[in-house]
Amino acid sequence: MAWIVKNSGTHKIARRPEPWVTAEMQNQYRIELLPKYETSQGALMPILHDVQHTYGWIPEQAMEEIASFLNIDPSRVLDTVTFYEEFHTHPTGKCIIGVCQSIACEACGHQAVLDHLRSKLGIEPHETTDDGKFTLLALECLGSCDTAPCALFNDDRHDNLSITDVDRLIDEHSA
Ligand code: FES
Repeated sequence: MAWIVKNSGTHKIARRPEPWVTAEMQNQYRIELLPKYETSQGALMPILHDVQHTYGWIPEQAMEEIASFLNIDPSRVLDTVTFYEEFHTHPTGKCIIGVCQSIACEACGHQAVLDHLRSKLGIEPHETTDDGKFTLLALECLGSCDTAPCALFNDDRHDNLSITDVDRLIDEHSA
């Protein structure tokens, strides 16, 4: 097994002058979220969801701002964001396609669905088309194993997917 060493010591965080986690957002978290949790870290997941919902992704600068707001180490925020496939660390396409790659879908043809999408869109999982329309992901179980193979197109799950279904969904989301 080969270890991949990331050069995080010299990694530069892209910054903009204005904060991603605005004073208004912080106020809302203070009033609505923090009182629900015994420790500030308990509010991390709902804050991450809110930031992603607001911007479509979670920039590294925003992770630092969240860490500072919750008074936790930035590495905890980064660990959480990168643990879950559903959090995006880069801007995504307008339609995020998440193909289930867990065992039931794997046994029922997920590879054909994924290969068709890779070839039709010209991208690999975790990439976005140049026109910014589609991001492709390979996800773990979507909770509908009896209707495999499944995939998400944004928030909608589509079951028993055929290649014809995939083509139709791509057309619908291309407009
Ligand atoms: S394995 Fe694909 S939905 Fe469960």
